[in-house]
Parts: sequence; structure tokens; C-alpha cells
Amino acid sequence: DWTMGSFIDTQVKQIREKVGDRRVLCALSGGVDSSVAAVLVHRAIGDQLTCVYVDHGFMRKNESVEVKKIFTEQFHLNLVFVDASERFMSKVEGISDPETKRKNIGNEFIRLFEDEARKLGKIDFLVQGTLYPDIVESGTDTAETIKSHHNVGGLPEDMEFDLIEPLRMLYKDEVREVGAKLGIPDEIVSRQPFPGPGLAIRILGEITLEKLDLLREADAIIIDEVRKAGLYKDIWQTFGVLPSTIKSVGVMGDSRTYAYPIIVRAVTSEDAMTADWARLPYDLMEKISTRIVNEVNGVNRVVYDITSKPPGTIEWE
Ligand code: XMP
Repeated sequence: DWTMGSFIDTQVKQIREKVGDRRVLCALSGGVDSSVAAVLVHRAIGDQLTCVYVDHGFMRKNESVEVKKIFTEQFHLNLVFVDASERFMSKVEGISDPETKRKNIGNEFIRLFEDEARKLGKIDFLVQGTLYPDIVESGTDTAETIKSHHNVGGLPEDMEFDLIEPLRMLYKDEVREVGAKLGIPDEIVSRQPFPGPGLAIRILGEITLEKLDLLREADAIIIDEVRKAGLYKDIWQTFGVLPSTIKSVGVMGDSRTYAYPIIVRAVTSEDAMTADWARLPYDLMEKISTRIVNEVNGVNRVVYDITSKPPGTIEWE
């Protein structure tokens, strides 16, 4: 609509004035926020923008390939695609503590990003997809951050960048409108939020490649069934969690199984500050459960999380 259209025009103009003929860097995650921010800045200054996408190996099924495709083939962004899954894996191996996982991943991300930035030579600005609620949640008026989110203020402090944060006055639904208006495919624009550390904080306990594959498959089934039920856009987030410190006994055919459960999490929310567990239809839950147990090796049980936020958080770590 006209409001978002004029928002884009104003931002494009302001970004051009601010940047002049200098160069800009953007950490693209493939999430709605960084994608919309990147495309908006690209519209303003074209090839003066370079985006860095770090695949830490904790992404959802097919996600990295899709992101690469959309931003290089459709938008022709300068995209540096870094496959760093081995580096990140080595930083989380043997670690179960949630905050240690988050910190190690966050630090490695910064290191990698700095390396890439250095290779690019003189860069003056950094794009961040910060939204209004991000500023509020990790902002100055809360005494304590509940979890160390790494999308706000988490980038190199010693690097001399000025920030470009074109979405800082917007809420998520407005960002989606802007994204659609910019021609970003629905696949990205309607994508549910995904935490920076990705699947690493959805495996409770130590992370291994096998567990990552298992969770990735289960998670893809959950999303697929929620989409088929036509509920994907009504739900803030829906995903699987693998509590890999638990195994339970089951029976399949005529043999005993002893395997992991998958926790299904689905919440409705406006801005992630509060959330309610989604009342998914029973037949959808049944499909999810049957498919996961039948299709994902190593899983024999599916449970549903019925906790709202507060007192629960959306993620389990
Ligand atoms: P919680 O679990 O605190 O999550 O209720 C609130 C929202 O934030 C997302 N989340 C993150 N996003 N980096 C991010 O960019 C992070 O480290 C991170 N941790 C949680 C979470 O998915 C939910 O939407």
C-alpha cells in the first residue's frame, strides 16, 4: 500500500545520501529482517553493497541453498557465501550448556564475519535488520538480557562501521509488507523467525552431525504439514526440538525401540515478547506424529509443548 511504498522511497533516498560513494556490508541470514534490509539497501546503492551469508551448519533443511539462489539469481546481490559448518561444529562439540553454545557460536560468527570484511577492503557501513521490538527487548531499559541474542549489538565492536538500520522503526508485519513490495518472494517474506544460532539451540545436550540431520528431517516434516494445513502464516513459529538427553521405550512392529522423542513447538505471537501455544488441530498433530516416527530414524515418540511465554520462552535454550 502507499504507506510502505513511501517508506521505501524515503529510505532509499536517505541511504543514498548517507552512503554517498562508499561501501556497505551486510550480514545476510536469509531471515525476513536481514533479507528485507539487504534488498532495500541494494535498491538504494546497488553494487556498493556486499552481503555475507554464513552457513554455520545449523540451518533448516535446504535453507542455505534457497537463500543463495534467491539473492544471487533474482536480486543479483554481491553475495559472499561462506560454508563454515566445520568451524562452527568444532566450537560446539561436547558442549551442552545453552549459554556457552550461544556465546561460542556468536563469537565464531563475529570472527568469521571480520575475516570476510577484512578481505573486502575499506567498508564504511554495516546494515543491520534491527526491528523496533529488538531494540525494546535487548535495550537499555531491561536490567538483564534473558538470553544472549546475537542479532543486536552482537557484531564487531572494534570495527569502525556506521550502522544502517532501515527497519528500526518497524514491526515484523510491516517488514513483511515492505519485503513484498520490494518483490522478495513469499517464501522469504512469510518465513517464520529463526534464531541466529539455529538448530544448535534446539538440540538439548551435545550437538552431533547425526542429531542435526535427525532434527532437520523432523523439523521439515512439521513445517510441511503445518503448511499443508494452511496454518503456516497464522503461526509465529513452528519447529521441532530434540531433547537428546532423553530416550524412551517404544514398540514398532514386534520389536522394542529405545529412541529420542521430538518436541513439537508451535506458538502464536505478535512480536515474540509474549507468545501463546498454538491450538493445532488434532488431525494435524496426528499427521505430524505419524510421519516423524515413521520417517525419521532414531525417533519413536512425539510430544507437544503446551507452555506459553511467559513463563516459557519460545525456544528451549
Ligand atoms: P525466546 O526463546 O527468548 O525467543 O522466547 C524470542 C524470539 O527470538 C528468537 N531468538 C533469537 N533470534 N538470535 C536471534 O536472532 C538469537 O540468538 C535468538 N534466540 C532466540 C526466537 O526464535 C524467538 O522468535
